[in-house]
Amino acid sequence: MILVTGATGKVGGRVLARLVARGLPVRALTRDPAKAEFPAGVEVATGSPADTDAMTAALDGVDAVFAVLVGDVAAQVGGFAAAVEAADTRRVVLLSSSAVNHPVRHRIGDEHRAAEVALAAVAQEWTFLRPGPFHSNALWWVRSVRESGTVRCLVGNRPGAPIDPDDVAAVAVRALTEDGHAGMAYELTGPQVLTSGDQVRILARTAGRAIGFEVATEAQAVDTFAAIGGDRVVAEGNVAALRSRSVPWGRVDTTAERLLGRAPRRFHDWADEHRAVFA
Ligand SMILES: NC(=O)c1ccc[n+]([C@@H]2O[C@H](COP(=O)([O-])OP(=O)(O)OC[C@H]3O[C@@H](n4cnc5c(N)ncnc54)[C@H](OP(=O)(O)O)[C@@H]3O)[C@@H](O)[C@H]2O)c1
Repeated sequence: MILVTGATGKVGGRVLARLVARGLPVRALTRDPAKAEFPAGVEVATGSPADTDAMTAALDGVDAVFAVLVGDVAAQVGGFAAAVEAADTRRVVLLSSSAVNHPVRHRIGDEHRAAEVALAAVAQEWTFLRPGPFHSNALWWVRSVRESGTVRCLVGNRPGAPIDPDDVAAVAVRALTEDGHAGMAYELTGPQVLTSGDQVRILARTAGRAIGFEVATEAQAVDTFAAIGGDRVVAEGNVAALRSRSVPWGRVDTTAERLLGRAPRRFHDWADEHRAVFA
């Protein structure tokens, strides 16, 4: 049995679909089973990854778990790690982040590093996936495109090599189901370096409409992040890191291509599939 947490989300949802397509026994964790829609045959477990009791029940009879921690990752990992330590589960594949390698200390990197350390201490076998930004982050722009026809970019216009969540999921499935990935940390990027402005131009072309692009000032970005996260100092650190010249995801890493056995999907392909959302 394989347990997928974050199973209603972007990466976990694709991990679940890929495991089901292979006919493997799968259990999906969600906080709200009434809202979740899973394919036939999927067992459902209720709870948050941070809830040790819920996770202990969910991990019963599980050989491998895909771990997605969302929100306050560092706070969540304690409860999750306690359940993993007590369980017989052999493999833990964690959706971490390439932010752990960022030369600028910031909360996102610190939290994922803490999660890696906590799980490495308790898991029989661990594999860490460290993707850069997802193609699907472009969905953050949908509202402003609909309201004003313009993307106001908070993270600056730095080059990065975004990756498709489905490619992250494909790598996760290999790590969950094959030997040879224990103790590995995989840096995952897409196949092309693009700026946010490049991404907006691709979205505009595929959607067949004009989309403006402007970069918010650093102060505006901090205000927005602080309004969402509630802590101004954390927001300043995260914005400084995301807008710095030395982001770890600023170049193409070939690990994803090697593990996928093909080129990772381009942002153009994701934009094409989501053209109706931006039209
Ligand atoms: N976006 C990026 O560019 C990027 C890049 C690298 C790494 N990451 C990391 O990837 C992870 C996110 O993956 P994702 O995008 O697949 O996740 P997601 O779609 O945002 O969420 C996955 C699921 O987590 C549950 N969830 C949401 N908020 C929660 C909370 N506060 N407490 C407990 N559960 C919650 C929800 O499931 P239910 O409601 O069904 O419980 C949700 O469907 C994060 O750890 C993020 O740091 C993201």
